[in-house]
Amino acid sequence: MSVHSTARKITTNTLQEMKAAGEQITMLTAYDYSLAKLVDRGGVDVILVGDSASNVMAGQATTVPMTLDHMIYHAQCVERAVDRALIVVDMPFGSYQGNSRLALESAIRIMKESNGHSVKLEGGSEIVESIERILTAGIPVMGHLGLTPQSIYKFGTYTVRAKEGEEAEKLIEDAKLLEAAGCFAIVLEKIPSDLAKRVSEAISIPTIGIGAGPDCDGQVLVLHDMLGITTDFSPRFLRRYLDLENQIEDAVKRYCDDVRSGDFPKDSESY
Ligand code: KIV
Repeated sequence: MSVHSTARKITTNTLQEMKAAGEQITMLTAYDYSLAKLVDRGGVDVILVGDSASNVMAGQATTVPMTLDHMIYHAQCVERAVDRALIVVDMPFGSYQGNSRLALESAIRIMKESNGHSVKLEGGSEIVESIERILTAGIPVMGHLGLTPQSIYKFGTYTVRAKEGEEAEKLIEDAKLLEAAGCFAIVLEKIPSDLAKRVSEAISIPTIGIGAGPDCDGQVLVLHDMLGITTDFSPRFLRRYLDLENQIEDAVKRYCDDVRSGDFPKDSESY
């Protein structure tokens, strides 16, 4: 029987068992009750309440403006919908960097107020003290290396990271550091496939890739991108499974036509 039976509630241990058994981990983002319910029913293993909510829900250019209150609100909505998946909540920019005490307080707020199951932080050696302090409270932590969107003003672009030797070697060292600190998994974003393979082989906790090739232990996409709701963002790693932008626009047009022509509502749709 596969480790990730659809009846079983997913925990951080399940993900570890999946890596050991060579089973791919599936992860998608969600930010609201209705879509989180469908994503959970669809059988995804991990739901990430990502700070990408800043882009796809709030229409902001970066994830930097997200606050702890925003993340807790989205996580509360998702948590009410989810029966099976493990819920990971992004810690927003400014809630953990450079201050491990603040990091612990922020993570505790997320856990107490949203009922999420774990938190995710972006970065390596620079934030390991914050990760260690959060872990002392028994809060599971997912790491995030490679392209870390909260540092966009340091990088200057959203292009592939760690193509060069020094940055690639630091990323491998950071992954080992996060594993030693006690993280239960690491997201690898937009790095070369061969580097992601090296990292996945070098550590025993699962790696979950986005734009990091086929050799990670799992994959994650932003829900609105893979459903084709957002089409202004088309990186090469994105596979679209639906074309909801056009389908929704078409449904809205047909509704407007029906109301304007008097076709809606009919007697059978009235009291
Ligand atoms: O916020 C987010 O959606 C993420 C994923 C891109 C991994 O961090």
